[in-house]
Amino acid sequence: MGRDTFESTYDMMRDKLRGIMPEFEIRHKAELAYQINQLKVERNAVILGHNYMEAALFNSVPDYTGDSLQLSRLAATTDKDIIVFCGVRFMAETAKILSPEKTVLLPAKKAGCSLAASITGEDVRRLREQYPGVPVVTYVNCYADVKAETDICCTSSNAKAVIESLDGDRVIFLPDEYLARNVARETGRDIIFPVTEPRASEEDLPNLKYTMIGWHGRCEVHEKFTVEDITNIRKQFPDVLVLAHPECSPQVVEASDFSGSTSAMISKVKESEAPHYLLLTECSMGDNIIAENPEKDMLRLCSVRCPHMNEITLEDTLEALQKTQYVIEVPEDIRVRAKRAVDRMVEIG
Ligand code: 13P
Ligand code: SF4
Repeated sequence: MGRDTFESTYDMMRDKLRGIMPEFEIRHKAELAYQINQLKVERNAVILGHNYMEAALFNSVPDYTGDSLQLSRLAATTDKDIIVFCGVRFMAETAKILSPEKTVLLPAKKAGCSLAASITGEDVRRLREQYPGVPVVTYVNCYADVKAETDICCTSSNAKAVIESLDGDRVIFLPDEYLARNVARETGRDIIFPVTEPRASEEDLPNLKYTMIGWHGRCEVHEKFTVEDITNIRKQFPDVLVLAHPECSPQVVEASDFSGSTSAMISKVKESEAPHYLLLTECSMGDNIIAENPEKDMLRLCSVRCPHMNEITLEDTLEALQKTQYVIEVPEDIRVRAKRAVDRMVEIG
């Protein structure tokens, strides 16, 4: 990235981050970023940074930043020996599934996700037995054993396109309840949740035109936003543009002006002329948008940080490259089956 001196790293970070953190903190972080960028070249590594990374990291060391789908695509095509994934475990696993010959590192030992933790491969097998022949779509926010039981994965940016690419009048859509409800609404589908409403669901199924069969996983960050949050802000700022991630409840998405993947939200702010913006998603992304668009009035009302994304720091990223940790492994039989589902997802724009 051409940041070959400490001073140039510091200057670049100060320009971006001066409205977000104090000068002494920028200088401290710039030292870490400089060391990481040196080591990255020495070790022939690429760093991928999800849009939710904290502002100092996001604006210094990643070679590429983006949403889940963009980063999956990049992981599949890199020619570097090492992929350092600054995101959460299921994302790093997806990189390993796509690029098994690379060393994939996650800078924190755990960096989980409430959605990924909500379902297992065994759960998917049981649903398949219950609904034989019905295709299974899983949101990419799940672990490799779940992807291995899946026909096709999707992300928040292509969920609708993936559903519409399938034949037949039923689909099992896992594990995010709210994303499923939002996609069902957007595509005019009915949705049922057989695990919590087994009898009613089975009786209703033949009468429904096109049915999505859902699961009760939730993102612990996005489920916190409420319609009341939006109503209160609109009272104070009637001309605010409200952007909500589709992991928010359907009521919140409906009360917002725009809903899309993290990158879609970033692009929307960039191209919009609205006088104020409210982001209903992980809070660090607001800082990153401010760093890129200092002239935009982002309302700083967010206090919801994903505890899992928050585990990834510059300190840990440096240590990851120094110690080659934490190496992501996926058993080969699971990887091969999971790859089919991820490949199909990557093909759909
Ligand atoms: P996207 O970046 O694909 O919108 O996903 C957001 C997310 O929840 C990742 O945890
Ligand atoms: Fe998982 Fe939600 Fe955190 Fe994304 S923001 S990693 S979906 S818990």
